[in-house]
Amino acid sequence: MVPSKKGIHALPIQLMEGVTHVNNHLKLKPVAPYCGAEVEGLDLSQPLDGETVEALTQALAEHCVLFFQDQELTPEQHKRLGNYFGELHLHPAWPRLVEGHPEIMEIYADENSKRIAGEEWHSDVSCDKEPPLGTILRLIEVPPVGGDTLFANMVAAFEALSSPMQRLVEGLTALHDGEQAYRGRYEGADETGKVYPRAVHPVVVTHPVSGRKAIFVNRIFTTRIVELSKQESDGVLRTLFEHIEKPDFQCRFRWRPNSVAFWDNRCTMHLALWDYYPNRRRGNRVTIKGEAPTYRP
Ligand code: SIN
Repeated sequence: MVPSKKGIHALPIQLMEGVTHVNNHLKLKPVAPYCGAEVEGLDLSQPLDGETVEALTQALAEHCVLFFQDQELTPEQHKRLGNYFGELHLHPAWPRLVEGHPEIMEIYADENSKRIAGEEWHSDVSCDKEPPLGTILRLIEVPPVGGDTLFANMVAAFEALSSPMQRLVEGLTALHDGEQAYRGRYEGADETGKVYPRAVHPVVVTHPVSGRKAIFVNRIFTTRIVELSKQESDGVLRTLFEHIEKPDFQCRFRWRPNSVAFWDNRCTMHLALWDYYPNRRRGNRVTIKGEAPTYRP
C-alpha cells in the first residue's frame, strides 16, 4: 500500500461512486466515497419481500449505513422492519422507552437535557457478549439546523492500516466495559449494586456477510487489550482510536423529519452531534440482535 500525503494508506477497497440500481424500483446513491448510501424507491411502512430484504442486507454490508427519506412508521411498522433482519434487542440501560414497546428506545434531547445519546464515537452496546447486528433510527422531530450523525466505515479503517499494524492487531482481543459508558449517565437510575455488561471481543472481526475484516474497538466501551501490558494496551488503543476517527472513513447525515438511518453495528461506528441546544431533537430506534463477533484469519 502507498502512503498518501496525509499519511493514510491508499484504500484498496472499491470507491462507492455511482448510483446502483438494485432492481427495477430500488436505487442506491452513495453519500461519501467510503461510507453510506441513500436508498430510493422503498416505503418502509409496507411489508418487504425476501428479495428486497436480501438486497438491503447486501447493501448494508457494502455501504455500512443506509439512509431513507420520508418514512412515516408506526411503532409496529418500525418493529416489523427490524424483525426482517433479526430479533429485536432490549437495551441494558436505556431509561426512555416508547410506552408499550420495550424494544423501541426514544432518542430525545431538549433544553433540559444534560447529555445526549452517542456523543462519542461508538458502536452500539459493544459491551454485550452478542453486540447488536444493527440499529434502525427514525427521527420525528429535528432542529432547524444541526443534530447531524456521523458514521465511519471500520472495514475501510482496517484496510487503510499499514501491513505491520494489521499484523499486530489481528488476533488480539479487547475488553468492552459497559460500566465506563453507563455508570452515572442516566438520570434517575439507581446505580446501587448494578452489574454492567462486559465482554471480550476480537480487535479485528470478520463481517459475517461480506467476509471482510473490520476494526472493532471504540472509545466509549473498549478499555483494555487483553494480551498486552497496560502501557502497551493504552498506546495501541490510542493509536487505533485516532486512526478510526479520521474523517476519511466517514459520512455525515443531515436529518429531516421522517429520515431513517439503518447502520451495521458490526462494521461502523457513529457519533451524534449535540450542536443544536436548546432546540429539540426526537426519534425512535430499534436495535437488532447480533452474534458474538469472530475473527477469521
Ligand atoms: C445513538 O443511537 O447513538 C444516537 C444516534 C443519533 O441520535 O443520531
